[in-house]
Amino acid sequence: MRLAVTDKCNLRCFYCMPEDGLDWLSRTELMSYEEMQRACDLLVNMGIDKIRITGGEPFVRKDIMQLLTGISQINGLKELSITTNGVLTAPHVAEMKAMGIRSVNLSLDTLDAGRFFAITRRDEFAAVMNTLDELLKHDFEVKINSVVMDGKNTQDILPMVALTKDLPVSVRFIEEMPFNGDGHAYKGLQWDYLRILNEIETHYPTIQKLDDDLYSTSYNYQIQGHKGSVGIIAAYSRTFCGSCNRIRITPQGTLKNCLYDDGILNIKDLMRSGITDAELRKNLLNAFSHRAADGWEAERLRHEQTNVHESMATIGG
Ligand code: GTP
Ligand code: 5AD
Ligand code: SF4
Repeated sequence: MRLAVTDKCNLRCFYCMPEDGLDWLSRTELMSYEEMQRACDLLVNMGIDKIRITGGEPFVRKDIMQLLTGISQINGLKELSITTNGVLTAPHVAEMKAMGIRSVNLSLDTLDAGRFFAITRRDEFAAVMNTLDELLKHDFEVKINSVVMDGKNTQDILPMVALTKDLPVSVRFIEEMPFNGDGHAYKGLQWDYLRILNEIETHYPTIQKLDDDLYSTSYNYQIQGHKGSVGIIAAYSRTFCGSCNRIRITPQGTLKNCLYDDGILNIKDLMRSGITDAELRKNLLNAFSHRAADGWEAERLRHEQTNVHESMATIGG
């Protein structure tokens, strides 16, 4: 399960939201920590064994460590992990390790401070690199998420791959999706997973396919002599939907069976109307049984028949 804890963010990534930000959700629209904890307790009881915390940026929500502590203590939860932009993360790394978190996905689209500013519209490159250092010092499993954007950072593909030579990280290139909060017109996918792979293969002919975990979003590769690995996420092409076992809860409590659907039911509203756990469980099971066959079908079945344009920050990625 992917739980998005806020829609707010301290960066303004071009591919995620407009420069002016979004109309942020009010406090009452957001799920409270108590509601999130209740949802997590119930879902783990129903068989969820991995929770990924996303946003917006999780660390901009006040007292986030309090929520992480609560979730990390749920009996039956095998893995708790976080996707973060790394701006505010470094000071919390030791405590995260102590509560049993082992892996962190860090969003980083370039190794050049100038391009970082152009993409995120904030001068926070040094802070993110410091978080990367801290995570590695504490032996976290680190995946770096890098969205590939035509005309913005394709010159970073090879330097990002080179990073895996000495660092034990997985650098994953992500196809750009249209979830940019109407920040710019989506021109259609320019760099699909095959074009990204071709760019890497041309310069690293020794690249070899790794066996992927059954539910992996990324196709993973290893370059001879490199400590880390390289992955490609066909997030737009949606070639991995067949093995998808993810559910999502947005910051406002909407349950989604797919990144591309527009929501199945709102569990926050149900909880506020006084629903019992037994009833909520029934509602959830019913929702899970109405999964679209793949992300293409989920997109077609959206109630609102417009193109997907909401921000990734309000979905949780
Ligand atoms: P792990 O496999 O647990 O490391 O995480 P992940 O790759 O699922 O999560 P992460 O938050 O790092 O997301 C990386 C990219 O994959 C983001 O751009 C997500 O939006 C995308 N992604 C994750 N799950 C899905 C999915 O179900 N469908 C699609 N199309 N994209 C997804
Ligand atoms: N297309 C692809 N990936 C995106 N992300 C955010 N917006 C988009 C988009 N439009 C990624 C971020 C983050 C992850 C949760 O989602 O890079 O790492
Ligand atoms: Fe913030 Fe992540 Fe969206 Fe960038 S992609 S603006 S870091 S929520």
